[in-house]
Amino acid sequence: MLRDSFNREVTYLRVSVTERCNFRCRYCMAEKPFSWVQKENLLSYEELFAFIKIGIDKGIRKIRLTGGEPTIRENLDELIAMIHTYAPAVDIGLTTNGFLLPAQAEKLKSAGLRRVNISLDSLDPQILHYIAQKDVFEQVIRGIEAAVDAGLSVKINSVILRGINEHEILPLFEYAKEIGAQIRYIEYMENSHASDALQGLRSDEIIEVLEKAYSFIPINKEVSGPANLYETSEGYRFGTIEPHRHDFCATCDRLRLTAEGDLIGCLYFEGAKSIKEAIQNGNITKATEILADVVFNKPEKNLWGIENVEVSSRAFYRTGG
Ligand code: GTP
Ligand code: 5AD
Ligand code: SF4
Repeated sequence: MLRDSFNREVTYLRVSVTERCNFRCRYCMAEKPFSWVQKENLLSYEELFAFIKIGIDKGIRKIRLTGGEPTIRENLDELIAMIHTYAPAVDIGLTTNGFLLPAQAEKLKSAGLRRVNISLDSLDPQILHYIAQKDVFEQVIRGIEAAVDAGLSVKINSVILRGINEHEILPLFEYAKEIGAQIRYIEYMENSHASDALQGLRSDEIIEVLEKAYSFIPINKEVSGPANLYETSEGYRFGTIEPHRHDFCATCDRLRLTAEGDLIGCLYFEGAKSIKEAIQNGNITKATEILADVVFNKPEKNLWGIENVEVSSRAFYRTGG
């Protein structure tokens, strides 16, 4: 079992398989990065799997593949199949922009993927084009449909930005409800890789808009995670994510691994330890020690907004949020 120094059990590993992306969302990767991690510095699927296996043996029960955009790395289904074959009970999820799901949803599901969180910030093709800086609407919608048709459990992630898509809170809600997906409205997280001018809506402002149209109550979540959940009188569940809050940190069960093998204890935490050399040398004992060390040093809470503490400037596309 992986237990940290605050007595939290770590059971959830988020694995970024690439920092690259086929979109340029203004809140994430507004411009093409100056340089990408070179291909030879990425861990291969075999190497990622070698580490994931150690994690599973130590108690990881949930794995989420992220990016950048994870579906642009070739043959992602192979990594999923490796994990699923090794440990069929492990819950495998994917966070994606949905663009490549029309071609991949079925294959990923067959490999063992269960859940997919898809970003959808607008139902207006022009607004989505503006946000993602690419004409993606139709293909993303087809991707969402393909995921639903493949029998994947789907969540929709929407970042609400002032003056851009704030008038779409209700239409996005209706859309998600209709397709049987849980929508989560994510507060914009400021970061140096985003466009300067962006301003996000706060969760309380989003809830205020929703309250005018629907009746719902907050519910206790069954699993840990940053989302606050609500249920309408019809039984539809949705959420808001306030990444800057600290209250979900008390039950945080997560670690993150980047595509080059850096293991990170918290999204906003600068500290990371590389498992790359140990894994490439086949040194399982060393990799296990590094895992234990990162778990032990997992910070009590995210360091956002704490005076005199500098928040990590690591791009969210390196850790998949
Ligand atoms: P599941 O609970 O497995 O469905 O995943 P999730 O909702 O945590 O993951 P997803 O990749 O869809 O991320 C949704 C949003 O939550 C993104 O904006 C992430 O950056 C944010 N997020 C995920 N994990 C954390 C965390 O540990 N801390 C903070 N502050 N934000 C997080
Ligand atoms: N603020 C809020 N959400 C973000 N995401 C990426 N960058 C940011 C940001 N700066 C979201 C994406 C995706 C999820 C992994 O994180 O929309 O749904
Ligand atoms: Fe790509 Fe996702 Fe970042 Fe958009 S939010 S640029 S889709 S990694």
